[in-house]
Amino acid sequence: MIPAGLTLDTYEAGERNALADAMDVMTRAFDPLFGEAWTLPQLSGVMTMPGTWLTIAHIDAAPLGFALIRSVLDECELLLLAVDPLWRGRGIGRALLGHSLTLARRRGITSMNLEVRASNMAVKLYENIGFEYVHRRPGYYRGNDGKLHDALSFRIDMLV
Ligand SMILES: CC(C)(COP(=O)(O)OP(=O)(O)OC[C@H]1O[C@@H](n2cnc3c(N)ncnc32)[C@H](O)[C@@H]1OP(=O)(O)O)[C@@H](O)C(=O)NCCC(=O)NCCS
Repeated sequence: MIPAGLTLDTYEAGERNALADAMDVMTRAFDPLFGEAWTLPQLSGVMTMPGTWLTIAHIDAAPLGFALIRSVLDECELLLLAVDPLWRGRGIGRALLGHSLTLARRRGITSMNLEVRASNMAVKLYENIGFEYVHRRPGYYRGNDGKLHDALSFRIDMLV
């Protein structure tokens, strides 16, 4: 059950007012072991690119999660999806992803791609939503401890 009062607010490329909220979640959501969190310059850099949008989940003014999407023509990529650890398992991640897919469809986008560390439990979420496994990239991610982790790529076709 999605928490009462949850809102999903979308910010387009060029809008800078959501960056602080996303960074607030970013610092808490990603395990430092895997080095997957982005820095503010990385996030603000991608948010200058046309076709990029950022959806933040809020309750009142508090940011609880976000999804970052980049699109080119009729394809898009889920770059990041994150939920505050204290708010996990309540449907916020699924809601953010569902909202991103709806927005993508409205923009005439026909597929969404993503890459995820093979050991990430987010894989289950992507499969449940209907993403299909495309391929595995062995040793694609290097953790902060130097260990290599495989990446899996997934795709959902929105025409079907
Ligand atoms: C992945 C992530 C965004 C999921 O957010 P969430 O709000 O907990 O997800 P939801 O509550 O919507 O759960 C969706 C599905 O994820 C899975 N899931 C969620 N929490 C889980 C948990 N603690 N253990 C196992 N699976 C879990 C379940 O399959 C769930 O399916 P269900 O709806 O059938 O129960 C969150 O765990 C996260 O921020 N992880 C760290 C950042 C990250 O690695 N992001 C993905 C790569 S960018």
